Amino acid sequence: MASTPGYFTSVGKKILIALTGIGLMLFLMGHVSGNLLIFIGDDTFNSYGHTLISNPLILVIEAGLVGVFFTHLITAFLNWYRNQDTRDQKYFSSNWAGGKSRKSLASTAMILSGVLVFGFVVLHVGTMKYGWWYTITDTSEGIRDLSTQMRAAFSVAWIVLCYEIVMVLVGMHLWHGFSSAFQSLGISHPKLDKVLQPAGWLFAVVVGGGFLAIPLAIFLKFI
Ligand code: HEM
Repeated sequence: MASTPGYFTSVGKKILIALTGIGLMLFLMGHVSGNLLIFIGDDTFNSYGHTLISNPLILVIEAGLVGVFFTHLITAFLNWYRNQDTRDQKYFSSNWAGGKSRKSLASTAMILSGVLVFGFVVLHVGTMKYGWWYTITDTSEGIRDLSTQMRAAFSVAWIVLCYEIVMVLVGMHLWHGFSSAFQSLGISHPKLDKVLQPAGWLFAVVVGGGFLAIPLAIFLKFI
């Protein structure tokens, strides 16, 4: 029988999901840190945004990001779909750690939250990046006024509510995804797992909480 290329095997897919997941976690760390600058001041946030989009490599970085995003989504979906299939066949003989229902609940929650967050990202980029457009009027350079844009978006209650719901989903996805990514890469040891799991929970709370705070703080006029 012909051998299957590594990236099509179950292990290959898991490694790809883990590597792209780690890439996305790094992006989220950068994204939440940058967005939190709005708490320091609108000018600080706008000059951060301006520096970011003036980077000559931005198009290459964005293309890479799109590639990583889609690879993560497609491989995760294929892996989940294959697991459903295998589960049907091996239903009576499987012996997952923690029992069948818990494991399948976690992976179903991951695919559900992942698909919902992906849907959000499409709408989010469409509106935040390409939709609303404000320009700082007291400069001749046409610098984008991202803070006014964010304030306009987060003065609308239903938009804030949608963001809050999705940010909880982002946190849930990271809660499980962080330690799972390291396990898929074979970085697993009873002692290390003791550190990785709480580190994942902390990461999920800090990143999810950071994102969650922005629309809420703007809507409640804290900033
Ligand atoms: C309250 C939460 C968030 C706020 C306030 C926010 C804000 C923004 C803003 C202002 C932009 C436009 C930047 C620009 O035009 O250069 C942007 C872009 C983007 N956001 Fe968010 N974001 C949030 C959450 C998220 C989450 C959770 C994800 C992913 C899961 C995400 C993914 C993206 C992506 C992929 C882009 C496009 C980046 C690029 O192409 O340069 N955002 N976001």
